[in-house]
Amino acid sequence: MSKNGKLCFGVVGTGSIGKIHLQQLSMIPDEVIISAVTDVFEPSAQKVAAEFNVPRVCKTYTEMLEDKDIDAVIIAVPNKYHAPIAIDALKAGKHIMLEKPMAFDVRSAKDIVRAQKEYKKIVMVPHQMRWNWLSREIKQNVEAGELGRIYYAKTGWLRRKGIPGWGSAFTRKEESGGGALIDIGVHMIDLALYLMGNPKPVSVFGSTYAELGQNKIGLGTWGTRDMSGWFDVDDLATALIRMEDGSMLSLEVSWAMHGDIGESNPWLYLFGTEGGAQMTENEGKFYTEGFDRSITVDIEKPDNTEDSRAAMLRHFIDCVREGKESISNQMTGLTNNLILDAIYQSSQTKREVILDWNL
Ligand SMILES: NC(=O)c1ccc[n+]([C@@H]2O[C@H](COP(=O)([O-])OP(=O)(O)OC[C@H]3O[C@@H](n4cnc5c(N)ncnc54)[C@H](O)[C@@H]3O)[C@@H](O)[C@H]2O)c1
Repeated sequence: MSKNGKLCFGVVGTGSIGKIHLQQLSMIPDEVIISAVTDVFEPSAQKVAAEFNVPRVCKTYTEMLEDKDIDAVIIAVPNKYHAPIAIDALKAGKHIMLEKPMAFDVRSAKDIVRAQKEYKKIVMVPHQMRWNWLSREIKQNVEAGELGRIYYAKTGWLRRKGIPGWGSAFTRKEESGGGALIDIGVHMIDLALYLMGNPKPVSVFGSTYAELGQNKIGLGTWGTRDMSGWFDVDDLATALIRMEDGSMLSLEVSWAMHGDIGESNPWLYLFGTEGGAQMTENEGKFYTEGFDRSITVDIEKPDNTEDSRAAMLRHFIDCVREGKESISNQMTGLTNNLILDAIYQSSQTKREVILDWNL
């Protein structure tokens, strides 16, 4: 460990989400030092380094990995580059926080899992929705057994206009691996499985569509706005995911569609033998039955709730300091990648796909 007991971080990728990570790091100067940033587009790295007072801009990520003082690296680049950078970072002895989806596809996700086994550093995929106050309230109740056995869950995020710009890596399959499903679907798959108690998924039946994006319908606010850019990914996906214990998860996500469900907010419903839970953006409810009556309880926001990204970063720092596995580690990353690939495959073959867990 580093200077004055503080953890030293490097950040690879100074785009939209890289800057959000830098903001979080810069809020806890007593705990961390931001040692260096790097980006293939050097002017971006220079600008961001100046904004956050980062002393060093590395020309390449490999130059950053040679810095012995750096303990942990945040990787915030397009999906295609996650695995190669992550594996090199693990080899260089760095802990990593690796943006979602953990990998471009299952093959590269398995490469990361094998590298983590070999080099034994912390890998965390920052699914910040796990750390928001409502998810945490529901998780506590699930763990306390209040919902009983969860046998069905339903989740989604149906955006009417959410395509992150034509012209960025998000809409280019070669760099992103997919569209709405891999971008926002992965958050909902991750959150649902986590709140269900991490059942093991075994098979998937699903379908993906690319109906509006190529007609330039549904442009959102994220990403690079370039109306002449590329679009060859899905803009809507739906799937049923079967677990080893018999429970099921139903998923619906879109970047663009002709409809407006719940003002485009993410939602999740859990149905258990003793009770149910619901979250729609920042509103939650518990449902149960007592004295022959239906009981519905609003989930109250506790006082002084910590920001989800701040709590998530604290979790990563604790994992590094204490050498403990993250609750959002490489195996949850692999789980999500297995489901994503299987949905794309099922859409092509029009058949149920069995997940291949062999490393
Ligand atoms: N957790 C979340 O909610 C969330 C939100 C948005 C994006 N993301 C994820 O973060 C990643 C980046 O997304 P973004 O929105 O910041 O994209 P972005 O396009 O805004 O930024 C990506 C940056 O990476 C740089 N880059 C590309 N290849 C590189 C390489 N090989 N080495 C170094 N730098 C490289 C680009 O120049 C760019 O500055 C994606 O994997 C995306 O899925 C996560």
